[in-house]
Amino acid sequence: MGKYPNYIKDDFFKKMERDGLALTYDEVRLKTGYSIASPSEVSLGSWFSRNIPLKSPIVSAAMDKVTEHKMAIAMAMCGGIGILHGGMSAERQASQVARVKRHLNGVIENPICVREEENVKDVLDKCAKKGFTFRSFPVIGVNGVLVGVLTSTDLDLCSDCSTAKVRDIMTKGNLVTAPPNTTIRDAYTLMKEARKKVLPLIDDGGRIKGMYVLSDSQRILFGSNESALYNVDANGRLRVGAGVSDGGEEELKRVELLVGEGVDVLVVETAHADTPHMVKTIQCIRARFPDVDLVSGNISEPDSAKRLADLGVDGIKVGQGPGATCTTRIVAGVGCPQATAVYNCCKALRGFEIPVCADGGIRYSGDIPIALGLGADSVMIGTMLAGTDESPGEVREYRGIRVKEVRGMGSPKAMAASKAARDRYRTEKDGSVPEGGEGYVVHRGSLASLLHQLVGGLRKGMGYVGAESIEELQAKADFHRLSMAGIAESHPHDMVLTENLPNYWRDA
Ligand code: XMP
Repeated sequence: MGKYPNYIKDDFFKKMERDGLALTYDEVRLKTGYSIASPSEVSLGSWFSRNIPLKSPIVSAAMDKVTEHKMAIAMAMCGGIGILHGGMSAERQASQVARVKRHLNGVIENPICVREEENVKDVLDKCAKKGFTFRSFPVIGVNGVLVGVLTSTDLDLCSDCSTAKVRDIMTKGNLVTAPPNTTIRDAYTLMKEARKKVLPLIDDGGRIKGMYVLSDSQRILFGSNESALYNVDANGRLRVGAGVSDGGEEELKRVELLVGEGVDVLVVETAHADTPHMVKTIQCIRARFPDVDLVSGNISEPDSAKRLADLGVDGIKVGQGPGATCTTRIVAGVGCPQATAVYNCCKALRGFEIPVCADGGIRYSGDIPIALGLGADSVMIGTMLAGTDESPGEVREYRGIRVKEVRGMGSPKAMAASKAARDRYRTEKDGSVPEGGEGYVVHRGSLASLLHQLVGGLRKGMGYVGAESIEELQAKADFHRLSMAGIAESHPHDMVLTENLPNYWRDA
């Protein structure tokens, strides 16, 4: 969405075009320049789509081995956004949206309750046995209705815990409760005003539906430095996106559920978005759900970018075949190397104010400042993030290395498993002509530690270029083209790396 008038890189790409060259990230490096930009102070604010800002320009891919609710929560807590894959039932995808949206709400959805006729001693034994670190419990009567609250003060003041029943010592008068949809801010105000440490949420029948705890709410609302990085909506809830596949009735029902749970952005996931079918899809979703941001992709040619822009989408995803698991370019013989694709599409979109996400092919942190320097507003990453703790699936050992499974959405198994994957690759019945592979990726620990490296590399890149913001990086970026010798020189050489680095690897 850069607003700078001149783009220095235009001359470089004109020359490449004259020579008939389309380039990958590996083949270019950013030129360094006079810099007052300090890596630790540069601003990483950007946009995924017209109304969805990012505090860090990284997005996790809608792949079934990459983004489910755990990844989406962690991504938004690191300032980015996760796009929940559509390879699950509509109900499950919607419930994952709900989990992300409620994550910071601080509401305990199924609080541990005690019964009024229980012995206090049994409650204390249960606390010790289960290692509960809290000692506040909603108390329910025979018909499941809330009748009181058992607090740590009640327990501390209990004179004979061996014989007392919960009902004898619980707090029952002056109970303060609220309805289930109470926001964290309202809950906090209520607890402060009423001087209560917990707030049970009850439905019209008086049954317990959740609970807020004062200390948790306080931490979430006014918390730590970390919470300043969270990518949250106007109500303080983490932002999340969801992948959808088309505009048919079935899929529109899915969209309705997603929107009902508060999804922030819908991403129409297809391997080729420049088709009449996609025009119809975008028009149908737009007509029925005009208030949710709609991102479309993927494309890799400038004319396709313009056609999508004319449809009024809120964001465009660029990348056909650069992904680690992709075989599209080999199987179908199509696609533009990613650096040129991103540049050409971003150039075509100048003046439209539509954010571009460079999707696929990020292998090292240094590819991120390159993608943004080419004009993208964010990068989408799949395979590398599949190696983190937050991706679905377990860590395994493969030839002595800790790995996690990854697969392209166009791989035979992903297409056999989901209609979304088949739709994406326009394969009606099966995955017999796949466009993606499956395998392992090295386990890279927590998402936060990997993103620390990726974002750290981006900051450093901006520092070298002299860009204090992503907009400035987009404007100032200029490139060198690397020869094979240049690529070899860029990697460590003439020595043997004996220690693993947290941001450099030669493995797959
Ligand atoms: P990385 O390189 O981060 O790229 O894994 C993620 C992106 O790759 C795309 N994708 C595929 N492309 N066949 C393809 O041609 C596939 O099976 C496949 N699966 C994922 C997708 O755009 C994703 O965001």
